[in-house]
Amino acid sequence: MTKPRQIKLGAIIHGVGGNVSGWRHPDAITDASVNISFYRQQAQKAEAGKFDLVFIADGLYITEKSIPHFLNRFEPITILSALASVTTHIGLVGTVSTSYSEPFTIARQFASIDMISGGRAGWNVVTSPLEGSAKNYSKAEHPSHPERYKIANEYLEVTRGLWDSWEDDAFVRNKESGVFFDPSKLHTLNHKGEYFSVQGPLNIARSKQGQPVIFQAGASEDGRAFAAKVADAIFAGHETIDEAKAYYADIKQRAAAAGRNPDEVVILPGIAPIIGRTEEEAERKYQEVANLVTIDKALDFLGRFFEHHDFSQYPLDEPFPDLGDFGSNSFRSGTDKIKQTAKEKNLTLRQVALNVATPRGEFTGTAEYVADRVQAWFEEHAADGFIIAAALPKGLDDFVDYVVPILQERGLFRTEYEADTLRGNLGVPIPENRYTKVKV
Ligand SMILES: Cc1cc2nc3c(=O)[nH]c(=O)nc-3n(C[C@H](O)[C@H](O)[C@H](O)COP(=O)(O)O)c2cc1C
Repeated sequence: MTKPRQIKLGAIIHGVGGNVSGWRHPDAITDASVNISFYRQQAQKAEAGKFDLVFIADGLYITEKSIPHFLNRFEPITILSALASVTTHIGLVGTVSTSYSEPFTIARQFASIDMISGGRAGWNVVTSPLEGSAKNYSKAEHPSHPERYKIANEYLEVTRGLWDSWEDDAFVRNKESGVFFDPSKLHTLNHKGEYFSVQGPLNIARSKQGQPVIFQAGASEDGRAFAAKVADAIFAGHETIDEAKAYYADIKQRAAAAGRNPDEVVILPGIAPIIGRTEEEAERKYQEVANLVTIDKALDFLGRFFEHHDFSQYPLDEPFPDLGDFGSNSFRSGTDKIKQTAKEKNLTLRQVALNVATPRGEFTGTAEYVADRVQAWFEEHAADGFIIAAALPKGLDDFVDYVVPILQERGLFRTEYEADTLRGNLGVPIPENRYTKVKV
């Protein structure tokens, strides 16, 4: 008998939050983005709720207009190392850019977290949207959108190759014979490509889950092709069930076309549930956060997606300005969507800015209602699970306390962890060491 499909859950821990003014909420801890106690509490809460993973997003360039969380926050690998030692089962996923790092370093760092955590590490592979990042990394210019994905493809080949440097039983560690390792089980990559030249071997072995789980976030044409080829899991961003379904079908079809089992690419849209004891209470909670956002802050927030473009130069109550191709070298899938929606719905700049800065989404209501929406998205193949990006300071706690028990009651979500590795819980296979594969 095959096990019924189960919902997978992640929690994004994002300090003072994704809302530009969320830090002003009465319940907000104003230094949450650099507060280790807050991160520990959130990770442990998610683990108590039997979540598959916690997720740390990241970026490499700020201006004074960036949202408060971006201005002063932990570096992902560092915070995940700290969280590894205060958790036991939950996956630890961090965002690192392939445009501004070296494969040897990153392979080593994620392999270390994977080992420290006993096989719970995941890497969200991003290409970095913001052009300004180049200025922080001694680069003359930000690589173009297609080139960033070309780099990412080669980067992943190198990283995965390095992770297989040691066969699983390579370390003999025999004190009597004096044999520390079996040289026939050590492999040197000798990669020479267009962007990277990496000899190897890597100076750390594979973990209990073989290799860290590969996440991807980025939904342009190039982003989808990359995800279908390499991702074990995808952090997606869709506002409606119909959009999510179309994306889901597209990715699964692409994965199958690439010769992969589509069930082994886990699609997790980010959602921001707002839960109330009644529908009115949930609505009031939404208004409470939405009302914190002034139009000036909303314009700044919108601007970031377009290379920190200054939207205050346009009239607020006239149709959204025609920006041409602008934005397509950064958050391409996001900016395409903003422009397309504005055009289709004939929205003004004010409406677009407020929609982007204070999205309402489909997940505002009572716990029963939110559980119904989660179930519908899951059963209608819009998602394999979700990444909860709390809109309110206590949003994750509310989801764990009120929605998770309903999902468990309905048999849709685990009551105990199936495994103590991230791959084991997500249901994605351990990749066999490429060199062992060749031998048999
Ligand atoms: C849901 C979602 C989450 C993302 N999170 C991050 C992030 O934390 N850090 C980052 O640099 N980029 C992030 N990105 C941006 C992408 O990695 C990518 O750099 C950008 O969107 C361009 O790729 P695309 O046009 O394929 O979407 C995210 C994108 C999506 C859709």
